[in-house]
This record gives sequence, structure tokens and C-alpha cells, in this order.
Amino acid sequence: MKLWGGRFSKNTDKLMDDFNSSIHFDSRMYRQDILGSAAHVRMLGKCGIIPEDEAELIRKTLFEILDDIENGKVQFEVSAEDIHMNIETILISRIGDVGKKLHTGRSRNDQVALDLRMYLKEEAMAIKDMLKNLLYTLLDIAENNIDTIMPGYTHLQRAQPVTLSHHLMAYFQMFKRDIERLDDCYKRIDFMPLGSGALAGTTYNLDRRMVADELAFSAITDNSMDGVSDRDFVIELASVLSIIMMHLSRFCEEIVLWCTSEFSFLELDDAYSTGSSIMPQKKNPDAAELIRGKTGRVYGSLMSLLTTMKGLPLAYNKDMQEDKEAIFDAVDTVKLCLPIFNRMLRTARFNEKRMYEAASGGFTNATDLADYLVKKGVPFRDSHEIIGRMVSYCIKNKKSLEDMSLEEFCSFSPKIETDVYDAISLRTCVNERKVHGGPSGEEVRRAINEGRNYLETV
Ligand code: ARG
Repeated sequence: MKLWGGRFSKNTDKLMDDFNSSIHFDSRMYRQDILGSAAHVRMLGKCGIIPEDEAELIRKTLFEILDDIENGKVQFEVSAEDIHMNIETILISRIGDVGKKLHTGRSRNDQVALDLRMYLKEEAMAIKDMLKNLLYTLLDIAENNIDTIMPGYTHLQRAQPVTLSHHLMAYFQMFKRDIERLDDCYKRIDFMPLGSGALAGTTYNLDRRMVADELAFSAITDNSMDGVSDRDFVIELASVLSIIMMHLSRFCEEIVLWCTSEFSFLELDDAYSTGSSIMPQKKNPDAAELIRGKTGRVYGSLMSLLTTMKGLPLAYNKDMQEDKEAIFDAVDTVKLCLPIFNRMLRTARFNEKRMYEAASGGFTNATDLADYLVKKGVPFRDSHEIIGRMVSYCIKNKKSLEDMSLEEFCSFSPKIETDVYDAISLRTCVNERKVHGGPSGEEVRRAINEGRNYLETV
């Protein structure tokens, strides 16, 4: 018989049981469910709502059930519908009538909200740790590549020289913001909803803060109807996870590109590459492609959560059971991708020579040559025009700007002198960009130090 079977005269259809049941995905919240129940029942005892010795017995049995689950001794039943009723059923089967008092002053609606919040708080912090590991990797590689010159791109066309270090530190900023977003989202997950009841609170004089304290929540929810029907925290987390995946995916796209023979900026370690079943020469960046591909499913989860919630009247609706598979999949995917990405990046070998060569072709120092003329008194627009003509001349004559002789330079502008060669060397181009946030060695070193300090504080 179902825990809620009293008003029914017939069993549910087997198909309906399967359809309605969430145990095959919400069983992963067994620990949160048990810890939540243990805190609830202790409070019921302390507040004199049920006898304290009975509360103790329930609590003790709950912990035994927890142990048994962790040792693989418990089989959940589809007929018991979800993790909440499975555990309650097991409790009652072990201690009989006393066990039936656990659910006093509580509903599955506030219970599931509690479990999910507890679960996601832990997962958010686990993901934060993974992001921190990735930031350390970025700092380590950046530190060793402050002088590794590479082309910076706009429109995927070579634009201006930067360094690998500077490029990687751009990703540092992205993943740092992801950590900040996680922390911010965490604040809104961190509300304890028990006491909301089914929707209208409860007549029992519950001590909600006592439960919140035991379960390490910072605050309790402020409106019983919102307490059971709010899933903003799930959507927010899915959105933070989507942004993390978007960042990983952009990075992966670059890695895939950099691994091509055309670019050859990078070679992935064999441990994170795969071969082809037909083409013996192939070494494919599958890990990077898979991460890029999996970004779609995390976005999908976000869309599905937003859509599930968009038409729901207050308060709880069964539609909301659909929240779990979506957010679990998003969490699992990110937790799968971050460590593999981290290892793939840490073991990758960058080809400094190729990067330098690529930065040398393509006139990446043209802006610096224009700035050189400006420093000699030519207005920027005129100088832009003059250098444009030089570039066109070089393309015709198959040379780069620094290959031109002084006579050739002077035929475009008499203001050019021998110091031009130093002014347009790639190293000068990079190191003169000392502006805050620029690629000069000095500035990138500062960014790396700040990055290290930041990681000490989070
Ligand atoms: N399994 C349900 C869920 O995930 C738990 C809450 C059920 N509440 C209810 N009134 N049917 O949402």
C-alpha cells in the first residue's frame, strides 16, 4: 500500500507507477534526504512535537539506513515512487508506528526542495574546486610563457602580436568570473525551506532555524508558497554551468584549431588524443571536441528548466519533478569536462617556434609602425594610410614590413629612421603595450601575481 493510499480504493496502474516514479534519478539524493529528515525529527523532539525518545529512535534508525544504503544493502522500490517515500517506507518497516511520526509538520514539497538545495550546494562547491584547479593550471602555463609570442586574432585574421601567457590569462578571467557567479548563485541556494509544508506552512510550532543550523544553511526561506515552488536556484545554477561550458567550448575550439597541421601551435599529449580506425596517421583532439559537443546538452538543460517553470501556477506542481534530471545532467557533464580539460591542457605541448612564425607573417606589427610615425609627428589617420600602402607594397613584393630596407621605408615616409626596426620588432610591439590589462611581460606578470593572490582568497 502507498504511504498516501488512504483515500484510494484501487492500486495505481503499473504503467502509471513507472511514469510517476522518480526513484531512478532522485535516489542520488539519499544522503541529503536522510540528513534532512534527521535534523527535522530532532527538532520535532526538542520542540515537544513528538516524544524525544521516539525522535531519537527515528534519528538513529535513519543513520542506520544511511549506512546500509552506502554498503549496498538497500534496494529502492519503484512502487514507493521517490527517494523520500522509499526512505520513509524503509524506516517504518524497521521501527513500525514510531517511524510514522517522522513526516509530522512536513510535506514532500518542502522536503524535495530541501534535498535539492543541499545536493546542489555540495555540487556547486565541488565544481568551484575544479575551476580553481583549472585556474592554477592556467597560471602555471602562463608563468612559463610570458615571452612566448603568438599572433592575436580578430575575425580569426592575424591582428597584433600577443603572448601565449596573455592569451591564457584571458581565460583565467573568464573562469574567475565563473567562480564568482557560482559563489553568488550559492547564496540563493543556501535557504532552508522546511516549514513551508505543502504550501501553507504548518500549525506545528517548528523551530526552523534549529533545522537550518544543523544542516548548515545560512538562512530560512521567507514565504511558504515560494519555499516549495521556487526553482530559481536550479535555473541560476544551470545558467552558471552553461557559461562555464561556453568558456570551455571556446577554449576547445581554439585547441582543435591549434592542433591542425595548418596551425601546429599545439600538440596534445597522446593520453588525451585518439586515433582513427581507418587513417593510420590521424591523431584527433577528441577530448576537446567532446567538451565542445557536450556544451549543447548543458544549454539544453537550462532551456528545459526554463521551459518547465514558465507556465506553472503557485505553488508545487508535479512538473517540477522534471527539474532533477536536467540539473543532474548539467552538473555531471560539467564535473566530467572540467578535470579532463584541465589534464589535457596541463599536458599539452605548445610550439613556440610556430607561434612566433605565425606572428611574424601577416603584418601583425602594422599598428606599431603606424604608431611609430605618429610619434614622429604624423597624424594617426595619415599614418594609417601610409602604412596601408606599405602593406600593399609588401604583399606585392612578398615580404614583411621588417624586411624592407631603409630606402624602401623612406620612399613612403621620409620621417622613418633606422630605429624603425626596433620599434616594429614583435618583442617591442608586445612589451610596449604596458597599459593596464595589456600583453607586456611586466603587465602579464602583474596579472599572474594577482591571479595567485586571488586563488589564496577563494
Ligand atoms: N518526487 C517529487 C519531486 O521530485 C517529490 C515531491 C512530490 N510532491 C507531491 N506532492 N507529489 O518533485
